[in-house]
Amino acid sequence: MQHFIDLDDWSGDAIRDLLTLASRLKAEQKQGGTAPLLQGKHLALIFEKPSLRTRVSFEVGMSQLGGTALRIGPDEIGMGTRESIPDIARAMSRYVDGIMARVFGHEKVVELARWATVPVINGLSATHHPCQGLADAMTIMEHCGGVQDRRVVFVGDANNVARSLGQAVIRLGAHFAVASPPGYGFDEEVLTCLDNDAKASGGSLEVLYDPLEAVRGADVIYTDTWVSMGQEAEAAQRIKAFDGYQVNAEMLAKAGGAPKVMHCLPAHRGQEITDEVADGANSVIFDQAENRLHAQKAILVRLLG
Ligand code: CP
Ligand code: NVA
Repeated sequence: MQHFIDLDDWSGDAIRDLLTLASRLKAEQKQGGTAPLLQGKHLALIFEKPSLRTRVSFEVGMSQLGGTALRIGPDEIGMGTRESIPDIARAMSRYVDGIMARVFGHEKVVELARWATVPVINGLSATHHPCQGLADAMTIMEHCGGVQDRRVVFVGDANNVARSLGQAVIRLGAHFAVASPPGYGFDEEVLTCLDNDAKASGGSLEVLYDPLEAVRGADVIYTDTWVSMGQEAEAAQRIKAFDGYQVNAEMLAKAGGAPKVMHCLPAHRGQEITDEVADGANSVIFDQAENRLHAQKAILVRLLG
């Protein structure tokens, strides 16, 4: 039994296999629908935080595959408060064929997986967003003709989305650069992992402070919110710290060429990205959102099929 918790557990070949399947499922869906590969299967969706894309894409994805998804909201099961995670995992495993969980602390989804007897999928934790990373790799593949040797630049907070993006694209041989203000970059342990991955894949990792230097020659410029869910109390301080890191028309001009612009959404327009860029010709943000559906269907078929 496999889980989908952290892209560190998925080799470049395993990620490529998921992407191939995701592309096939996408093409089939466009031609009238996918086969009911998960007929009669049930997926629980546990949310400790809000969601649009994750919830809707998992629900629709399960339905397209002939299965069912049921959403459990933040006030319902009380992970670790009303009931312990080991008890939740073991009880839930008696009803459903898979569990997706969006949690605050990453250790919660790890503990769920430790006790569950069905596959567990990380639908975002404080430090990882692997479903997003896979959908992003798929989007880069489609828009840049591949991921290997592409320059993918993340500008802003080196957060959960940045980490999973880096893991996915570096494992696929990309040159990944991240530009964050001092104090908001990856910690040493993450950098070491990404660097080791780059050595193995032929990709590379570059860490910078200056976003304008980072975006030079970019095939992709990616950004995300400066204030992730759970960091609301730090909002004012963070918005100040990220001054100069907005992805805007001037930054795009510095990149040269025509880099694709990516954002996992939700966007805070006027903060990390301008309307002009988010809605501009280079933006692929809604293709990314769509690819969550296809990428997750591939994960579901591999894990639950
Ligand atoms: N990108 C993403 O995970 O969106 P939601 O928070 O709306 O699910
Ligand atoms: N980094 C953001 C991503 C939201 C999809 C957060 O964790 O809130």
